[in-house]
Amino acid sequence: MSLPPVDWNGIVNGSTRLAVSEPLRDEVEAGVRVERRSFIRLGLGLGACAGMSGTSSACTALGEEPATPRRLDFDAFLRRLTERAARAVRDEPENEDAYLFEIASWLTRVEHVPALEYTPFPGLEGVLTARHKRELPISVLDLRLEPGAVIPCHNHNGYAGNLLGLEGEVTIESFDPVSGKATPVSGETMRVRRTGTQLLQPGRVATLSTTRDNLHRLVAGPKGARALDIFTFFTQPGPSSYLELASEPRDPAWDIQDGTWI
Ligand SMILES: [Fe+2]
Repeated sequence: MSLPPVDWNGIVNGSTRLAVSEPLRDEVEAGVRVERRSFIRLGLGLGACAGMSGTSSACTALGEEPATPRRLDFDAFLRRLTERAARAVRDEPENEDAYLFEIASWLTRVEHVPALEYTPFPGLEGVLTARHKRELPISVLDLRLEPGAVIPCHNHNGYAGNLLGLEGEVTIESFDPVSGKATPVSGETMRVRRTGTQLLQPGRVATLSTTRDNLHRLVAGPKGARALDIFTFFTQPGPSSYLELASEPRDPAWDIQDGTWI
C-alpha cells in the first residue's frame, strides 16, 4: 500500500508539550510547519458566557464555570472548545478523558454544523475534508466519506480526538498498542489489540486520547458519512502514520493483530 503521511492538520513533528500560556506565532522551521497562534483566555463566567446562546441566566457569577446551555450554536461551541482546550493542555493534561468526555457532552448539544466546501484528502479515495477552525491546541475538520470509503488504520501521535456523527454511518475500529516503538518507523512492526468497534451515527460521539484508542480504522456505510473531527494537541504532534494490519489475527482470543508501519 502506498500512502502519503497522514497530515490531517498541517501540523507535524516535535514532541514538546505545547506551552499554550505563551504567545504563539506562525513560524516555519526546516521541514516543519507549526502554526502558532495567540490565545485569548476568556474570563470564566464572562467571556465564555458571552459566547453561548441563550445563556443570560446560565452564568451565575464571575469566576464560576458557566453552565452548559441546553443547545449550542456552532460558533458558540467553537469558542467554548478553544478556551477549554487551552485550559486542558495547560492545566490538566493528565486527565484527557475528563476533558474529552466534557467536549463530547457539548457536542451532543450542537444545533447545526454549517456546510463547507470539501477538498479530496490526498491518497484516500472517497475521503474529503474541510476545515472549520485551526487554532492550537485545536483543529476542527469536517470529514465526508463516500459510500464504502475506508481510512486505513492510523495513529494520532500526540493528539486526542472527538468525532461527532453528522450524516450517514461510519464504523470505527479502535486499537491500543501492545508492543512496538511509540514512534512509528516505516517498515517496522507494531502489535495492537482491538479495543472496540463503534457504529458512528448522527448525534453519536467517538473519542480517542493520546494513550487510549489512539489508533483507528474507519469504514463508511452504504450511504456514506459526514462527521465533525475535533483534534486537541496535547503535545506538538509527530506526523501520523498508517499501520497496515495483517490479514490474520495474531491472537484471536485477545483480538491481537500485527501491523506494519507504512
Ligand atoms: Fe483518525
